[in-house]
Amino acid sequence: MADIKVWAMYFSPTGTTKKIVTQIANDVGAYMGVKINTLDFTPPMVRNEGQSFSQNDIVIFGVPVYAGRVPNILLKYLSTVVGGGAVAVPVVLYGNRNYDDSLIELRNILQNNGFKTIAAGAFVGEHSFSKTLGKNRPDEKDLKVAKDFAHEIANKIINGNIGNIPVKVRGEDPIRGYYQPRDRKGNSIDIRKVKPKTNNKCNNCGICVKVCPMGSINSENVSEVIGICIKCGACIKKCPQEAKYYDDKNYLYHKEELEQEFQRRAEPEIFL
Ligand SMILES: Cc1cc2nc3c(=O)[nH]c(=O)nc-3n(C[C@H](O)[C@H](O)[C@H](O)COP(=O)(O)O)c2cc1C
Ligand code: SF4
Ligand code: SF4
Repeated sequence: MADIKVWAMYFSPTGTTKKIVTQIANDVGAYMGVKINTLDFTPPMVRNEGQSFSQNDIVIFGVPVYAGRVPNILLKYLSTVVGGGAVAVPVVLYGNRNYDDSLIELRNILQNNGFKTIAAGAFVGEHSFSKTLGKNRPDEKDLKVAKDFAHEIANKIINGNIGNIPVKVRGEDPIRGYYQPRDRKGNSIDIRKVKPKTNNKCNNCGICVKVCPMGSINSENVSEVIGICIKCGACIKKCPQEAKYYDDKNYLYHKEELEQEFQRRAEPEIFL
């Protein structure tokens, strides 16, 4: 297996997707006897560069679930990634609510780009909006599932069990619309224009500017969000001073509803 390359490729503003994808890739790499390559397309500049794979590549490919789907801001970039006959394992991370049609959507994207999807997984990560929903997930139990999953993926590859049939996953096809948050009366809640604010604990360290996947925080004035905010939570969760916060009523209402409604522990699901 000398010229095989194993890749961890992910978009991961708050690090949960990175954690699972890296674990799976590391373990698949260990079974194959190779070190992994990493392609983190969270920084906006990386998504300006093309990426092509070939038959020797095995790509563990992860994105978080946004509104039950693949984050729509990634669709343009994802359509440019060339599979070239590489093996791919689509992986989604969701915040303990549901992954809806995101996994089937990611599988279809990869398959259409010329990857062979031989396995897939949906894992749980702490919700981008919350410190309690899916708190500290993925945890040890999730990592154990990821480890066993990697073993199964490696076995499939070593046994030459790679066909052209896309891995069967849970979800509907044709894919349903984006999940729509609603208030108690059933009216939809629109948080698209909401942006985080900054309090006076900020010491101008600049971390939020670096971690924003949209490049939207003004480096001259970090309290200013100059571009699109996708509510990814990176600037809030990674600020060492806890200086970033939301005060939008609709956003806070939706976050609290999610925290109350989805307290049960959702478990990872794998497909082989
Ligand atoms: C805009 C947005 C929408 C989200 N929609 C969902 C969802 O529909 N279902 C769910 O369970 N989690 C949802 N989440 C939570 C993330 O999928 C989850 O926290 C994930 O682990 C974040 O990945 P990351 O740590 O790699 O950024 C959403 C997060 C954001 C920012
Ligand atoms: S990460 Fe926090 S403390 Fe650092 S510049 Fe941003 S808001 Fe300020
Ligand atoms: S400004 Fe918005 S998009 Fe940028 S890191 Fe913060 S939450 Fe994410």
